[in-house]
Amino acid sequence: MGAVRERFNPASTVVSKRPRTFYIETFGCQMNVHDSEKVAGVLMARGLRSVENDQDADLILYNTCSIREKAAQKVYSRLGAFRKGGRGSGTIIGVLGCVAQQEGERIFERAPQVSLICGSASYPRLADLLGQIEAGNRRVAGLSLATDECFETELTRRDNPFRAYVTVIEGCDQRCAFCVVPTTRGAERNRSSQRILADCQRLVEEGFSEIQLLGQIVNHWTDPSPARLSFAELLSRVAEIPGVRRVRFATSHPRHFTPEIVKAIESHPALCDQIHLPVQSGSSQVLARMRRGYTREEYLEKINCVRGARRAISISTDVIVGFCGETLEDFEQTVSLLDVVGYDQVFSFKYSRRPNTAAAGFEDSVPEEEKGRRLAVLQEHQRQIQLRRNGELVGRKFEVLVESFQPRLQQAVGRTTSNRVINFPGEPEWIGRYMDVRVTAAGPNSLVGVQTS
Ligand code: 5AD
Repeated sequence: MGAVRERFNPASTVVSKRPRTFYIETFGCQMNVHDSEKVAGVLMARGLRSVENDQDADLILYNTCSIREKAAQKVYSRLGAFRKGGRGSGTIIGVLGCVAQQEGERIFERAPQVSLICGSASYPRLADLLGQIEAGNRRVAGLSLATDECFETELTRRDNPFRAYVTVIEGCDQRCAFCVVPTTRGAERNRSSQRILADCQRLVEEGFSEIQLLGQIVNHWTDPSPARLSFAELLSRVAEIPGVRRVRFATSHPRHFTPEIVKAIESHPALCDQIHLPVQSGSSQVLARMRRGYTREEYLEKINCVRGARRAISISTDVIVGFCGETLEDFEQTVSLLDVVGYDQVFSFKYSRRPNTAAAGFEDSVPEEEKGRRLAVLQEHQRQIQLRRNGELVGRKFEVLVESFQPRLQQAVGRTTSNRVINFPGEPEWIGRYMDVRVTAAGPNSLVGVQTS
């Protein structure tokens, strides 16, 4: 791949006014959410103002997701709706993120109203690309994957008032057979421990008490600086910053999950008692075909390590049903794994064939209807597990951070460090406070409680 490509087509040049306002819509994962915060920061540093509504924006950006086909289609439906809306030709439209990287300049053909396409590996060049747009260029593309840089910004817009995201690693080298990410986000790039810790320190000074470290495979982070901290050491160092009350991290890959991470959680109360550890399948045969790099038994060893911790740690996972060649027996092993592990949350998906992946060359053997059936069985099974596990919490007391308030029910909505949601009678002023709550009732997805402090 070459350098960032910039196209200039004089015939389609419009004497565009310099955009003064922008609107950005984000699809997909937390990495995308945080990328949008950084993109917004770059725009704000250039003097553009963020607006709440696309109707008021001179520049509209879609930060896209292509992890499954349905997600990727969303951007085209947005672009189609935009055209039907008959918006003025002065509005500049950009497609960012994974669909931009995957589709490349085909987007210009399919959606001629688009002026900017930029994949996440080219975000360090985003300011230059915007300069091109402001100079009147109607077709600008940043599609190079050949970078060893991370997206560093002077300014980052913070959209969540409680939780500040900090990137530790970008890209992915794993090449799981089903996954499009290595071809949309590029090879792994690590940020140095000094940079990460300085970001966390600054965020605490700005008033954030919860930090979430982000990476496609966050626990594959390797310190490129001479300090050579391990990921577990990094977690401890972040947790030790005075003022940090909650540290989360996502997403971990089981292959790189070490007992040191569990030890760090045990010894630092600020490290949340929650781990997201995607298993994808409970069948070793399917895992081998997925190229996950572990067997069911090896995964369960990691789980045993988590379960052996002195403090209870909540575990969540991702599951794909109907992967190429998945038999009924394989599927049943995934269902049985849910029982063995006792997850508190499961994000489950029907397998969706993606371009440029190893599995694109496999036979997508499970019919769509059967994928749907398996998904429904799995989700119902997990619902019962959560109902039972949450039921066991009735009577117990937890500290929650109040994140919102529901005026209709006059209820505060708090989150425990184990990532459970508790609704309890409260006041709007409680938003942002840490409070103790006793659980009085439990549903599969949330708890009900009363404040005790
Ligand atoms: N089809 C279905 N689900 C997928 N995921 C990743 N790729 C695919 C795919 N091709 C799921 C995995 C991953 C989560 C973010 O999305 O479970 O962990």
